[in-house]
Amino acid sequence: MTLLVTGISELRTQDDATGILTDAALVIDGERVAWIGSASDVPAADQCLDVGGRAVLPGWVDSHTHLVFAGDRSAEFAARMAGEAYAAGGIQATVDATRVVSDAELTAHAEGLRAEAARGGTTTIEAKTGYGLDLASETRLARIGADVADVVTFLGAHLIPTGVDRRDYLDLVIGPMLDAVRPYSSFIDVFCESGAFTVDESREVLEAGRAAGLGLKIHGNQLGHSGGVALAVELGATSVDHVNHLTAADIDALAASDVVATVLPGADLSTREWLAPARELADAGVRLALATNTNPGTSFTTSMPFCVATAVLQHRLSLDEALAAATTGGAAALGLDGDADAVGCIAVGGLASLQLLDAPSAAHIPYRPGVPLTRAVWRRGRRVDV
Ligand code: NIG
Repeated sequence: MTLLVTGISELRTQDDATGILTDAALVIDGERVAWIGSASDVPAADQCLDVGGRAVLPGWVDSHTHLVFAGDRSAEFAARMAGEAYAAGGIQATVDATRVVSDAELTAHAEGLRAEAARGGTTTIEAKTGYGLDLASETRLARIGADVADVVTFLGAHLIPTGVDRRDYLDLVIGPMLDAVRPYSSFIDVFCESGAFTVDESREVLEAGRAAGLGLKIHGNQLGHSGGVALAVELGATSVDHVNHLTAADIDALAASDVVATVLPGADLSTREWLAPARELADAGVRLALATNTNPGTSFTTSMPFCVATAVLQHRLSLDEALAAATTGGAAALGLDGDADAVGCIAVGGLASLQLLDAPSAAHIPYRPGVPLTRAVWRRGRRVDV
């Protein structure tokens, strides 16, 4: 079954070979894009949808979320808005809430968040563990994450849980826990920060993950100059996420590497943290991703349009830079780029994961911040309810 989508005022392919087309059309055949071209010269198709002068772009690739959790930390949020500082220790509250709910409740909650993300145009999503912090709970989060999300990242090294010896916990993470989550996971991650894990501990965790065949990610330089960025470059991590506190040497090192720097605008605002220097990173030539960081502590949003708008309005990225970071940048941060199954772009022969805006151009995302502009979403050629 082929579907011709015509009447596209702006088609942002995020594919270098095709770029941006105006007055465009495309054909979806099964789960793939079969044709892209001018609306004045379209091929025959089984069905036709005239979108009436609206913009089409790839579905968002949300490369950093903590989707599987239970509980509510709105009181902690309110205290922060009244002047309290964010501290890593809040993670334990979510761990306590998560451990006591059933598989069915956890799954339903995560599926609800994924559906909410889809309504904002997200078609690919990562989910981290990290709110279990014991063998059974981390394994459960990885299993549920694999059911609900596209990519799972093992974040057993999120915090040393209350009452557990530091060395014993590290041995658990790099031993039995890593073995148990390995079948569900593509990446290993560590919260390299004061109050969480030191640089040496982070290196130990990541090297164990690499030996087990996982890709590497780091929560780095979120609350201070943690050394996470330098470690990401040293180890050749796929991404380093947060990147709020950077020296000029950090930016130069990232620019000289293949490490993707993931900017998380929701966390920057919700923690009232120093904004990640996205403009300086882009100017230096660092590859950027933009992600929601969905979690109940620092960024309880699933909205990629919010992140794109904030990255333009607050972090001073251009529209083109923000859209690239939220699509192909996210794909690079998940290793889902560079082949026929790449996500975050629209190309002939590629996956038909795309979104239709209720607007004539993608510029309306930051131009009309906070307005829900996602009109339709296709994931792998199938229309998603939005
Ligand atoms: O990415 N920084 C560490 N982890 C999460 C926050 C976790 C929490 O506070 O529950 C983040 O911001």
